[in-house]
Amino acid sequence: MIDGVGEPVVVGKPRQINRTKLNHRLDAIFERNWFSNRGPFAQELEQRICEITGAKYCYVTCNATTALQVLAKAMGLSGEVIVPSFTFHGTAHAFDWIGLEVRFCDVSRVDGNIDLSSLRDSITEKTSAIVGVHLWGNPCDTFGLVELANEADVLLLIDGAQSFGATVEGSPVGGCGVSEIVSFHATKIVSAFEGGAILTDNPELSEKIHAMHNFGFDTDKNVVSSGTNAKMHEVSAAMALTYLDDLGDILTENRGRFEIYKSRLKSVPGIRLIEAQHGRRGNLHYVSIVVEGNTPIAHVRRSDIKEALARQNIFTRTYFAPGCHKLRPYNQLHPDKIPSARFPNTEALAESALSLPTGGAVSDSQIHLICDIIESAASKHRRSSRSIPIVP
Ligand SMILES: Cc1ncc(COP(=O)(O)O)c(C=O)c1O
Repeated sequence: MIDGVGEPVVVGKPRQINRTKLNHRLDAIFERNWFSNRGPFAQELEQRICEITGAKYCYVTCNATTALQVLAKAMGLSGEVIVPSFTFHGTAHAFDWIGLEVRFCDVSRVDGNIDLSSLRDSITEKTSAIVGVHLWGNPCDTFGLVELANEADVLLLIDGAQSFGATVEGSPVGGCGVSEIVSFHATKIVSAFEGGAILTDNPELSEKIHAMHNFGFDTDKNVVSSGTNAKMHEVSAAMALTYLDDLGDILTENRGRFEIYKSRLKSVPGIRLIEAQHGRRGNLHYVSIVVEGNTPIAHVRRSDIKEALARQNIFTRTYFAPGCHKLRPYNQLHPDKIPSARFPNTEALAESALSLPTGGAVSDSQIHLICDIIESAASKHRRSSRSIPIVP
């Protein structure tokens, strides 16, 4: 075993929190004896999220999957929704599970985010909404999506499960005037153990979300619609508030780790680090590389890197292979609608992207070690100078 890597180093290990603060909040829950049903911590969390993001309305939920479903129901979606194929399959399942027909589109090979021209081609007369995803915490082209949705006369919502704390042209995600959801799952930048939130600026939509995430009750406890139980309980809200207290530090630490990866990997042949594009800033909670494979100077494969790291007890993830359109519920239900040739970028990324350990549970020296291993694996596969084609 190599120094500093006694314990397995993994992707998504939660950062330690200030347990004293959390314990104070837990004591307050038991003193108040108010455990759920939009308790004081849930309401404080909603308020804090509105302040941080600039969104007008926020509802915290038991997870992001139900947040997506409540938002879809409140928006009155029907028929088809278009979802990028290269995402966590929970995005697609959330809509499929409530009876919507999921159609896929391709993403950009540069950052894995939705490709607007593929999206435009996927829209049909049955499409009620398009769904952006801020992949790996890097915002997608939110304002481009707004334009496209207006042009095509369809609704737009964003799955920002991975992206709390990221910004689009200076505006925090969730505060760009688009209805979005975020996740506070244990592996996310802000954890509620399990949790999520729905953010919107639209007052009518807000009223519907208010009712639908709580059995259809309005503020006067009249049942005004159908609904589910998507509420967040007080222990989760206390946890998320405790993480939010440190959000500034977490974002700064994430940037520090990302910069180490960036400076160490920039000259490694065949390796490209995924970065936010065009005035957008990611929350850097994920560090993903693309192993370009067969370039003129390198022919390293993703499996070479993955295996070299695993031999040293460091475990990477091949998010989001193989692409949702290849997963069973979708490839069997709608095979005619999803010829894989239409999603070349999804398929290329599914074969070449690798997410590396980062976050508060990974030290700087471990990141240096990861980079050493990647560098050494890549250099083993470096082509000799004689085999590099001479370009006139
Ligand atoms: C893009 C995306 N959408 C949806 C989800 C589901 O979130 P949750 O686990 O909070 O339900 C996740 C979770 O990782 C995700 O990454």
